[in-house]
Amino acid sequence: MTGLFITLEGPEGAGKSTNRDYLAERLRSEGIEVVLTREPGGTPLAERIREVLLAPGEEQMNPDTELLLVFAARAQHLAEVIRPALARGAVVICDRFTDSTYAYQGGGRGLSLERIATLETFVQGNLRPDLTLVFDLPVEVGLARASARGRLDRFELEGQAFFDAVRTAFLKRAAAEPARYYLLDAAQPLAQVQHAIDALLPTLLERARG
Ligand SMILES: Nc1ncnc2c1ncn2[C@@H]1O[C@H](COP(=O)(O)OP(=O)(O)OP(=O)(O)O)[C@@H](O)[C@H]1O
Ligand SMILES: [Mg+2]
Repeated sequence: MTGLFITLEGPEGAGKSTNRDYLAERLRSEGIEVVLTREPGGTPLAERIREVLLAPGEEQMNPDTELLLVFAARAQHLAEVIRPALARGAVVICDRFTDSTYAYQGGGRGLSLERIATLETFVQGNLRPDLTLVFDLPVEVGLARASARGRLDRFELEGQAFFDAVRTAFLKRAAAEPARYYLLDAAQPLAQVQHAIDALLPTLLERARG
């Protein structure tokens, strides 16, 4: 059995976490084993790396340091959670994964996409998500939703140009590989976003049951 690996991507406040829970609930109600997780993080050690990545600090984090920390956390997460879950046939739903690395460290920070791809293969081998939902919305709408939640993390403190580049990077990746990506208009009311997710369920159930 090889499970099903689903990732949720998109910028701040797009609705990834809200809809991750919704999708998990829909699949569980059909008797499917779902492992819900997130990045950076997903294991105690990887969550400690997450804290380092998200905490605003006095010392500017070097972009290469940021990139390597993201992949260090991912290596731990893959070994401890994602690969074992897929191996026993579960559906893994992960809130952010390597597309966020391409969007934030690649698009946002301007790091070389080739280097990211090298690290991706180093850490993941040939493992890639089976399906990636991309929650797309105008930058200001997402930031308004995220800032309504409270204190901003180190990424949320970035400016409009950074987030424009992040959004563009997600859209570019989705357009380049339409078979893997499912693009959602996340500016719509939540009920409509969930309606679009419902449309995916028959296919997902079929694939999850192998
Ligand atoms: N379609 C929607 N319309 C209006 N509000 C929404 C919608 N989807 C989510 N929200 C609200 O926006 C806020 C951010 O949603 P959520 O936390 O799911 O986003 P996220 O993509 O996980 O953000 P982050 O990247 O910061 O973790 C929440 O308060 C949520 O209730
Ligand atoms: Mg979230």
